Amino acid sequence: MTTLVMEHTDQLRRIADLAGLDFGLLEQPAIQRWIDRRASVLDLTVSGYHQRLVSLESERRLLSEQIAVPESWINRYPASFELLRERATESLRGNERFRVVSLGCAAGQEPFTVAAVLADAGIPRHRIEIVAMDRSRSAIDAARSGLLPSMAIRDDVPTPWRTRFQSEGRGWRVDPELQAMVEFVEADIVTDPLPVAAASCDVVLCRNVLIYLAAPARRRLCARAAELMKPDGILLAGHADPPADLGNVLEPIDLPGVFAWRAISERGSDRRMADAAARPVRPFSSTPGPRPVPRIARPVREPDSPTAASVRRLADEGRVEEARIAGEALIERDPDDLETRLLLASIERDDGRIDSAREHLRRLLYLSPDHSAALLAMVSIAEAEGDLAAAARHRRRLDRADEDSGGASS
Ligand SMILES: C[S@@+](CC[C@H](N)C(=O)[O-])C[C@H]1O[C@@H](n2cnc3c(N)ncnc32)[C@H](O)[C@@H]1O
Repeated sequence: MTTLVMEHTDQLRRIADLAGLDFGLLEQPAIQRWIDRRASVLDLTVSGYHQRLVSLESERRLLSEQIAVPESWINRYPASFELLRERATESLRGNERFRVVSLGCAAGQEPFTVAAVLADAGIPRHRIEIVAMDRSRSAIDAARSGLLPSMAIRDDVPTPWRTRFQSEGRGWRVDPELQAMVEFVEADIVTDPLPVAAASCDVVLCRNVLIYLAAPARRRLCARAAELMKPDGILLAGHADPPADLGNVLEPIDLPGVFAWRAISERGSDRRMADAAARPVRPFSSTPGPRPVPRIARPVREPDSPTAASVRRLADEGRVEEARIAGEALIERDPDDLETRLLLASIERDDGRIDSAREHLRRLLYLSPDHSAALLAMVSIAEAEGDLAAAARHRRRLDRADEDSGGASS
């Protein structure tokens, strides 16, 4: 397998270029396993499957979906939505509509959060426009159905708008009023024409998408995001998105708890720098008031790259929220990082987010079926929930794993 991958490195590079994907992500063992399985389903050799990827755009999209998984949840990075609420409230002083675009919206978790926040803030419906795009057809279909997957609700969903998402079957039904507020479009946000006018958006969300893209695609997407923004509009990125690449067209806004950027225009930037120098930075808060004057951070501050060790250190120091954010950034980049998955499972479990903990453990066990610590954690979760059959099942797996490795379970 490894030899084959080595043999086809050039072809993989070509596929990565064509799909605009970061080459390193294509080399991940989980993706290589997926390629093996897909080739076998199509009755092709791996090399034959590479040829298919080169010639078929639809196949590249399918592969891209394995890499940039349409996974998201309601109120992901709550501070970003607080900033959005503040901006929207202030926009009521003018006559223009408050326009938000979500680039890479997955199954709608992000734009529905925007809709919930704006509805809750009392922004009149006719003053809001939300357009959400994703290239994954299944994600857009799911979004249009208004039924979110079970993991779409995790935590940090404040009342009163939490009631806008009602449990239904194994998922969450979105309030029809919110559904009507969002227009979903199936589109490739790097290459397709965007159905939004230039310089028309107050807020562009492009979170946890840049991280998957190759440098040219990232630069293109940043330029497009910058083009969509009103002169005082903002781009909200994800914690793991690589800010260095935004440097040419966007500059960071230094506000705590959010990864926000704005377009650089020569005159606008000079004016803002003068503003920033003249006025103190107002600490970010959710209470309405004058628009914050963000301080321009120079030199550009790169967040420290988290490692499994730094995530553990943060958790050990009791800085649990920071550990969680750093851990999520880490596995967004490397979903096969078992140590971080285990740490996140433990953090989630301690915080009472059992479904999320279990999901991390499931993924970990998919990658490493005999992982004793993960199996033990599964046993303990099942026991705590009183699911004795599941506990026994995990215990048997754990015993088998220990026998195979010649060790003991506890
Ligand atoms: C990890 S999800 C992030 C969802 C959401 N923005 C968030 O932060 O929770 C990445 C999404 O970006 C989408 N995506 C990746 N590349 C894209 C492209 N070139 N065009 C449109 N969507 C893309 C994927 O289909 C996926 O739904």
